[in-house]
Amino acid sequence: MPSNAENSLDFMELRDIASYVAEQVGEYILQESRNSVLLETKSSSSDFVTNVDKRAEALIVNLINNHRPDDSFLGEEGTSQEGNSGVLWVIDPIDGTTNFIHKHPGFGVSIAAKVNGDTVAGAVADPSHGEIFDAAIGHGARRNGKEITLTRSAKLETALVATGFSYKNTKRALQAKVLLKILPCIADIRRMGSAAIDLCSVATGRVDAFFETGLNEWDIAAGTLIASEAGARLSTFTDFDGETLTVAVNPSIEAQFIELLHAAAEGIA
Ligand code: IPD
Ligand code: CA
Ligand code: CA
Repeated sequence: MPSNAENSLDFMELRDIASYVAEQVGEYILQESRNSVLLETKSSSSDFVTNVDKRAEALIVNLINNHRPDDSFLGEEGTSQEGNSGVLWVIDPIDGTTNFIHKHPGFGVSIAAKVNGDTVAGAVADPSHGEIFDAAIGHGARRNGKEITLTRSAKLETALVATGFSYKNTKRALQAKVLLKILPCIADIRRMGSAAIDLCSVATGRVDAFFETGLNEWDIAAGTLIASEAGARLSTFTDFDGETLTVAVNPSIEAQFIELLHAAAEGIA
């Protein structure tokens, strides 16, 4: 049953704001990727943040504030702002910072609107490829304004699977062990470098599944809505290490893929 806050909200309007802002800020980070950037590390020697991540986050908050001054914000680079409208914007200003600093395509902007803990609208921009994905709950997912629906069915042995690795080296060693058991059962693995864009790739059928453990809300809030509105199946499990494993998969291989993940994680930690 929708709450009062949800009743008075237009989720498609929230989606359109997310999409507009993701596109604008996507263009900005693409321009900046051609310049030199100031680097700092965060949780490990491979976890970077740049001056552009911080500026992009401020830009997103400003642009959304122009439309909706009473909303709340949570951003990866430290934004935490309390509003009173019932809408919380969850922001990853650059998802795929490692790609961004290497001038490698595959970095994007992820913006999601949450109400009562549920993501109701969101957008992911992939500016190097000229793509904007968006969705509003109950209203489907789109790529560059055109509806996307997952129609292709998959088989486990020919499945292309995306994943990502932690910034913590000890965790990476365990993730590599899990991968050793998965690889012989599928067609191949892709590590593209942006969880948000990986989830959009599940939505379009470019990959048949995505799994990654230890992701943050800002990495996945928009992408999981886009994938599920396109027809993918989303689930979360506790992994071998006690962290949350996020899975998005083509419905035709859901049961087999989840069984494979469980079998691969057995006895790992
Ligand atoms: C990272 C990317 C990457 C994933 C990492 C994330 P960041 O986000 O989504 O693909 O493997 O787990 O932390 O640090 O580039 O915003
Ligand atoms: Ca991220
Ligand atoms: Ca980021």
